[in-house]
Amino acid sequence: MKFFFNLKTITKNIFIFCLFYILSVVVLQNKLIAQEKLYQEPYRPQYHFSPKANWTNDPNGLVYVKGVYHLFYQYNPFGNVWGHMTWGHATSKDLLHWDHQPIAIPEEKDTMIFSGTCVYDQINSSGLGTKEKPPMVAIYTGHIKDVNQSQHVAFSIDEGKTWTKYNKNPILDLGKKDFRDPKVFWYAPKKYWVMCVNLPLEHQVQFYASTNLLNWKFLSDFGPKGDTTGVWECPDLVQIPVLNSTNKKWVLQVSMSEKMQYFMGEFNGVNFILDSNQKTILRPNAGPDYYAGITYGQLPANHLPTTIAWANNWRYAGNIPTSPWKGAMTLPRNLWAENNNGVWHLIQRPITNLNSLRKKLAYQKIATEAKDETISLESIGINADVYECNFELSSASKEKVGISVLNDKFRGVEIGYEPSLKQVFINRTKTNSFSEKEFADIRYFTAPINTATDKIKFKVFVDNSIIEVFVNDGESVFTVQAFPVHSDKNIKILNTTTQGSVKNLQIYLLQSIW
Ligand code: FRU
Repeated sequence: MKFFFNLKTITKNIFIFCLFYILSVVVLQNKLIAQEKLYQEPYRPQYHFSPKANWTNDPNGLVYVKGVYHLFYQYNPFGNVWGHMTWGHATSKDLLHWDHQPIAIPEEKDTMIFSGTCVYDQINSSGLGTKEKPPMVAIYTGHIKDVNQSQHVAFSIDEGKTWTKYNKNPILDLGKKDFRDPKVFWYAPKKYWVMCVNLPLEHQVQFYASTNLLNWKFLSDFGPKGDTTGVWECPDLVQIPVLNSTNKKWVLQVSMSEKMQYFMGEFNGVNFILDSNQKTILRPNAGPDYYAGITYGQLPANHLPTTIAWANNWRYAGNIPTSPWKGAMTLPRNLWAENNNGVWHLIQRPITNLNSLRKKLAYQKIATEAKDETISLESIGINADVYECNFELSSASKEKVGISVLNDKFRGVEIGYEPSLKQVFINRTKTNSFSEKEFADIRYFTAPINTATDKIKFKVFVDNSIIEVFVNDGESVFTVQAFPVHSDKNIKILNTTTQGSVKNLQIYLLQSIW
């Protein structure tokens, strides 16, 4: 009887064990399948950064520490909508391939972690680390809904792996509801840290100084100036090289509602002085999906200034048809200043080691031949909208010229030159498969072009739902999202009667970074 009872128990236990084992295998398998499918979803960018899952907006705390580029970003750990703002974290050795890191700074009780900066406090000026273990210090906005925005500090002494919030936060509080997005950098001539931070409703950037990152003294303010039709956010002040020269210029970038603008001038450690010739509003991006762009801090001396922005637009960001993530970052760009007839403006180019993603030159043609020529991507060995496409147009063209990408029989995103307006353009009118009204309403984007030379050069990066276009080596740039529904994928030469209108067309298949 006893033996029989034991046998029963043993059989029962074996049964439970087997059941448990099978369940675990199924769960693990599903997890692996889910993992495998990640980054293969429709519209998922293959060489632009996006988090595995959930919502992201602004890039935060871009800093280079001991050979590692850190990318923190506004992140909602709990869903695919804006909320519970927290700093997500990723790292890279080449600004292209990213390793996801654990959440850096989580929301706490009623305080969300809004945008800000991270610096490597190598001399331990803050005293938050030690000489042997200098801290990384994050300076961000603590946001208490409808009550207060003030500047806070968190620090890490293990190179960004774990973070501690400073116990005397906030470190800068004007008792205001809107006061946000500190950008901090070391200003060597005066041997102090400088913070620029926005008074969004006043359309002002304020400058503060500190020797220890914790106590800040007001220096000056800038604005209202330029475009003041919305709230000012995410200021960024950086010194950049003048193209083909050893001189340097300062550029102050500000985001506003859904667009960015920049001011060229000088910074003397106290004031930002706008160049007297800047009379118009200047934008770093002519497209709709470029916001909250900031530059990397503490790059090595010979490293070009590098910026990353959020490739999205607040008008429709919450409704874009992507899942399980929403939001991606732009390609990293290098910055220069150039003077055109007395007016300074920005030159932006994608970082050059993007070339390392080229898998093969899939297609090339000196001059396109026919009206309405269509290049089927499949026929040239490209099976996804993941490629780089370079070509040239002539500014002497008599009619609209260009190409259409993300194209099928009926739709496409047109990129080209409109001679009657002397403008380059992007037109996503014909891709509004995504019926969100705000998105459909914002669809035609233009930039004036310097027509002194006949050749207009286009460098186009197509990445499933993000298109970035660099015209004439960075004279103007467009970042545009599009969510086409299409079966056959192709590139079409725009309806033109001029033979050979598109010259030196090259299409490179790019490899995924994931
Ligand atoms: C800009 C912004 C910032 C703020 C953050 C909140 O996109 O509104 O001003 O810190 O996003 O997520």
